[in-house]
Order: sequence, then structure tokens, then C-alpha cells
Amino acid sequence: MTPPLPTVAAPLRDPLAPPLLDAQGRRMTYLRLSITDRCNFRCTYCSPASWGGKKDLLTPDEFARIVSVFAAMGIQRVRLTGGEPLIRPDILEIAQRIASTPGVRRVAITTNASHLERLAAPLREAGVSQLNISLDTLSAETFRRISKQGDFAATLRGIDAAAKAGYDSLKLNVVVMRGINDDEAPALARYAHERGITPRFIELMPFGQGTPVPTAELIAQMQAAGLSLAPEPADEDASSLTSGPARYWRAPTGRVGFISPLTQNFCGGCNRVRVASNGDLRSCLGGRAQAPLHQLIRGGASDTDLALAIRGALGEKPEGHRFTEAGNGSTLLPMMGIGG
Ligand code: 5AD
Ligand code: SF4
Repeated sequence: MTPPLPTVAAPLRDPLAPPLLDAQGRRMTYLRLSITDRCNFRCTYCSPASWGGKKDLLTPDEFARIVSVFAAMGIQRVRLTGGEPLIRPDILEIAQRIASTPGVRRVAITTNASHLERLAAPLREAGVSQLNISLDTLSAETFRRISKQGDFAATLRGIDAAAKAGYDSLKLNVVVMRGINDDEAPALARYAHERGITPRFIELMPFGQGTPVPTAELIAQMQAAGLSLAPEPADEDASSLTSGPARYWRAPTGRVGFISPLTQNFCGGCNRVRVASNGDLRSCLGGRAQAPLHQLIRGGASDTDLALAIRGALGEKPEGHRFTEAGNGSTLLPMMGIGG
């Protein structure tokens, strides 16, 4: 009997086992999941796909399935986004299912706060530990200008409810627009600190109307208005569970964060994967790498099929194919050229 030929390729690693790496070897631990493309506000700088009417595509079961596959692969933190995630009638079920998925250590939600008066406490009970709340102004008039169709009073009541609901972390996201709300930064910082919330000022990205204010200019403006601000040392571990793209400064009443998509490139430490509300994985490294997770699930894909699609979209092929596949190195190079 002839002995079996030695195999050239290394044995295939389980595609469902961690780590989940992107094309540049960065370890993905954080999943941003858009659970609806609808919103009940109409902020001038933001354009969700629809303002209402359309039905959401994925069910709580399907979100739970997607998250369980990602968690098996090493995702530890999940953020629910939208549109406005709290307009889904099944939000508590979705949050509870995701928070109880083995491997998921933290669930966060980004919200406009309009439904928090009712939902802040039940979401906390469902296992959500962090809320990022959007609020750009303390003036009812400016609010109407920025967040058309938004309910200012309900938003403020929602923020107060969140402040009392025992969250581990609350953040207030402020998109800064020149001549509209940039003079309110010190007042918004004080408002947040009075409620145990960390304010974060975000440079406007050009998706809609408005003019951005560079972070350095905003900080100088806040200091000129009499607010004492000193930089905190940069986070040493940019890929840790808690850190994100914000840089923090210290004011007498608490920390103040700045997120600077225009003037500071923070992609280098990126640990995020995104799933859009239609169930498409977005690697954020350019248009090429996507996986239609919802279609795959409806077509009967196994967890392994989903894991392979996720790895394929992120540019990482399972070991064992790496050395045998012609042109592997050259297909990875353009991705690196983009710089993440
Ligand atoms: N620029 C910066 N941030 C934006 N957001 C939405 N649109 C923009 C934009 N053009 C962010 C804000 C908002 C959240 C829902 O999304 O933080 O609070
Ligand atoms: Fe966009 Fe949030 Fe405003 Fe809705 S509330 S339009 S999602 S920024």
C-alpha cells in the first residue's frame, strides 16, 4: 500500500474561531449594527435612507443569529444604531437577545433620546450598558432648525430618564456647526456634566448642510469663552474595549471629548465592523469588501458559511488557503493602499 501523499496546505482553521482579522491584520472586536434605516427626526446633517413608512428587514432572530456568529469569532462589543434604533417596536427583544449572547460583553445604543423617557429603564434591564445620546443644542429654536420634526421637550425628558437609569456610561454627542451651535459648546458641556454624562463634540462630516468647525478651533473658542480645558494623555491602547476615536480633555466639571473625522485620521486603530440595516456587512475599507449576510441567512447558510463570508469580506482568507492561492498578496495590496 502506498503511503498517502503529504498535503501541501496547512489544515484549515475553524472559520468560526477567533480572531477576526481584517486585511491589515487588525483584530475586530466591535460590531456596529444598524437595525433600521428609518428615523423620526430629520437632522440637516444626516440622511438616513428613509424617514418612515418602510418596513425593517431583519427580525430579532436574524440579528441574534448574526451577533452569535460574530461573537464566536471574537466580537465582544455591539452597538445598535440606525436611523433611530428605538423606533423599532421590537427594540427590547433585540437588545435582550443580543445582550444575552455568549461572548458579548457590552451592548451600547446610539439614540436621539426621543423615546428614552419610556425606554431608558427597560433597556438597562435588558442588558444595555451604554447610551450615546445625540443633542446639538439647548435652544428650542435652534433644535427646530437642526432636527426638523424632532420633539425637543421629549428629547430632554429622555436624557433625564437615561441619567437616572443606572447606565455604566452615558455620552452626549454634539455635532458642531459654524454659526449654528458652536457658541453653545461650554453650556452643553455643563449640561452633560450636571447629569453625569460625558459630552463629545464632533466635527461635521459633509453629508448634508452646514459648515464644520475644526476641533482645534473649537477648543480655542471654548477656552476663550472662559472654560478651562487641559488635554488628557492619549489612550495607550487604542484597540481596548473602552476606547474609540474620541480624544479627551479635562474641564473643571468633568471630561470633554472631541471626535475629529476631518482633522485627525483615527482609522489606524480601527477595530470596527459594520452591518447595515439591509444586512450587508461593510468592512469600511472601500466598496469592494461586502457580504450580504441577510440574503445568506434567508438562503439557508450555516454558521460556518456566514463566518466564511464575513472573513472573505474583511479580506482575511482562512489559513491554509493563504499560501496556495495565486495572487493573494497582490489582491491585498490595494486595500492597504487605502490606509483603512
Ligand atoms: N457629521 C458628523 N456626525 C454625524 N452624525 C450623523 N451625521 C453626521 C455628520 N454629517 C452622527 C452624530 C449623530 C449620530 C446619530 O450620527 O453623532 O448624533
Ligand atoms: Fe440622523 Fe440621528 Fe438626526 Fe435621526 S436623529 S436624522 S439618525 S442624526
